[in-house]
Amino acid sequence: LRRIAMMTSGGDAPGMNAAIRSVVRMAIEKGCEAYCIYEGYEGLVQGGSFIRKFEWEQVRGYLSEGGTLIGTARCMAFYERPGRLTAAKNMVLNGIDALIICGGDGSLTGADKFRAEWPSLIKELVDTKQLTMEQVEPFKHLNIVGLVGSIDNDMSGTDATIGCFSALGRICELVDYIEATASSHSRAFVIEVMGRHCGWLALMAGVATGADFVFIPEKPRAENWREEMCSIHRKIGKRKTIVIVAEGAADQDGKSISPEMIKDLLADKNGLALDTRITTLGHVQRGGTACAYDRQLATLQGVEAVNAVLDATPETPTPFIAINENKITRKPLVQAVLDTKEVSKAIEARDFDRAMKLRDTEFSD
Ligand code: F6P
Repeated sequence: LRRIAMMTSGGDAPGMNAAIRSVVRMAIEKGCEAYCIYEGYEGLVQGGSFIRKFEWEQVRGYLSEGGTLIGTARCMAFYERPGRLTAAKNMVLNGIDALIICGGDGSLTGADKFRAEWPSLIKELVDTKQLTMEQVEPFKHLNIVGLVGSIDNDMSGTDATIGCFSALGRICELVDYIEATASSHSRAFVIEVMGRHCGWLALMAGVATGADFVFIPEKPRAENWREEMCSIHRKIGKRKTIVIVAEGAADQDGKSISPEMIKDLLADKNGLALDTRITTLGHVQRGGTACAYDRQLATLQGVEAVNAVLDATPETPTPFIAINENKITRKPLVQAVLDTKEVSKAIEARDFDRAMKLRDTEFSD
C-alpha cells in the first residue's frame, strides 16, 4: 500500500486547500493512503503529530477555505543536512516515499534537493544505526511532485500559479474601492501591490482597472518617466489618478521606485500638485478564499500530481504540474526553477528582453 504525503510550503496562496483536498482524495481513490505534513518542512523535521494520516471526509469543506489548513512555515533546519536527515528518518518511520508539495520555486527547489540527496541520507541513517537495512529496504527512492502555489505567478513554464487569479481579483476589487474615494476627493492614489520580483499582479491589475500608470520590475519606464508621469493631465471630468506600483519595481538603473517617490512627484506644488495618498495593499491580497479558477486549477493539478507519483520511475526527473494553454501538463521541475532564476538574473542585469523571453519560455517535456 503506497503512502503519499501532501505538504504546503512557503507563503500561503488561495487554492492550496483545494490542492490538499484533491491530492488526499485522489490518493485514496487510487488505493493509496494519504498523509498530510503540517507546517511545511518544519513538520517533516519534527515528525510525530506533524505527520497525520488523512481520510476522505477530513478534507470536506476545504474548497471554500482561504490560506492553508495544514499550515506552512519557513524552516531553517531543513536548509542543513542534519535537518534533512531527520526528515528522511521521519518519512521512513511513517512509511512515506512520495511527497507532493504545493509552494513557490524556493520550496520546490528544496524538495528536489531532498530527492537528489535521498539515497545518501538513507545510507547515513543505516550507517549511524538510526534505522536498519530492513527498515529502509522499501524506501530506496523518493518521489517528489511539485504544485506551484504562489500569488506572484512568477514560475517559468506555467501560465498560472495556484492563487494568482484570486489575488488579482482581490486587488481589482480593492482598487475599485479606492477609486470611489479617489473620485470623491479628486485625489491621486499610489497603490503598492505584491509580487516580489514579478510584475504580473501589478500589470494585470493595471489593465483590469484602467490605471493611469503602472510600474513593474520587468519593464522599467523610459528614462524620462518623471516627465511622462507629470504629463498625466486632468481632462475635464477626470477626477482621479491611479498609479499601481509592484513591490519590486525599479528604474532603468535598477534603483527601486518606491510609492513615496511617486507620491512626492504627483504632489509636487510646481507640477501636478495632486492631493495624493499611498495605499499598500499588503496581505489582504493573499488571504481570503480562492476564486473559482484557482479552486479548479488546484483540483485538476492535484489529480495530475497523484498520477505523476504513481507513474514515476527512479529515472523520471522530478516533475511539477503546470498549466499551458489551458491544458494540465507535467514539466521538469529543475528546468523551470533554473529558468525562473535566470529571469531574476536578467532583470538584475537590466536585460529586459531576455527576461521577457525567459518568462515566455516553452521547453520540451
Ligand atoms: O510570494 C508571495 C508574497 O506574498 C510576495 O508577493 C511578497 O513579497 C511576500 O510573499 C511577502 O512575504 P511575507 O508574507 O513573509 O511578508
